[in-house]
Amino acid sequence: MRLLAGSANRPLAAAVAEQLDIDLTATEVSRFPDGEAAVSVDPDLRDEHVHILQPTSPPVDANLVELLLLVDAAARCGAARIIALVPYLGYARQDRRTEPGQPVSIRVISDLLATTALERVIVIDPHTRYLEAVAGVAVESATAVPDLAQAVADDVPDDAVVVAPDLGAIDLAQGYATRLQLPVAYVNKERLAGDEVRAGEVVGAVADRHPVVVDDMISTGGTIAAAIDALHDAGSREEVTVVATHALLAGDADETLGALPLRRLVVTDTVARATPSALDLDVVSVAPLLAETVRRLETGGRLDELETFH
Ligand code: R5P
Repeated sequence: MRLLAGSANRPLAAAVAEQLDIDLTATEVSRFPDGEAAVSVDPDLRDEHVHILQPTSPPVDANLVELLLLVDAAARCGAARIIALVPYLGYARQDRRTEPGQPVSIRVISDLLATTALERVIVIDPHTRYLEAVAGVAVESATAVPDLAQAVADDVPDDAVVVAPDLGAIDLAQGYATRLQLPVAYVNKERLAGDEVRAGEVVGAVADRHPVVVDDMISTGGTIAAAIDALHDAGSREEVTVVATHALLAGDADETLGALPLRRLVVTDTVARATPSALDLDVVSVAPLLAETVRRLETGGRLDELETFH
């Protein structure tokens, strides 16, 4: 069994390898002067089970192409089985057309993955629950919610309320609420542009409660900031706990989130950043989750027995 990493999140790949007590198989990724990716892998992969860890986090398109090329390289070396560990899957937000003239982007991306020699793709907390339905390649979704909920469980006041910052996060919020034994509320959000959202009414009892705002991902931080504004308008306590699986922290996210009255900002390490965030992040590693997934894939164990696959 081999574990390979693209360049998107080598620290996470190293942590998974350590958990599995194996060495990472060598890969090289460089760029031609015109920007094309050039990848190569240790060619000693014949008949091996190969796992390739590569989130398609920013730069999204470059990391996606790198993943496709790594899969092809491993296949041409004779790998018996190739599985992609894609802890953060970009484009999953674009799972439907919200206006005429748009593509269904995640369909295009999953079709691309399906053209490769991949046997399956493992993702963590994808934006859409219906990824399996649109993807032409076998996708299995793990969740970091149990680990994230455990990370905040001892610190959340008894009178807290779990808040979905938009309708799409309600299932996720319900997962946290069940684990933390708290009620749920949600904020009606309207996305005006990629970096602009408008929060509407808050549905649920939040007055005088400590909000625990949960989401699958934080990109610019606009959704979280708008939700917190709406919660304050609805009478919630000032301080807020924010929990999200994927910390993309794009654009002005550090400034936007840094200006908020955050008690804790808890995320995972699915996304690596070129420059460290200035934010005080509590990071929960998904390395144990991924390592156990790989172990079970190798031994024929069932993934659905794991809490992280519910
Ligand atoms: C969208 O519905 C997602 O679940 C997130 O709420 C959104 O992508 C976060 O983006 P941003 O941080 O830029 O508002």
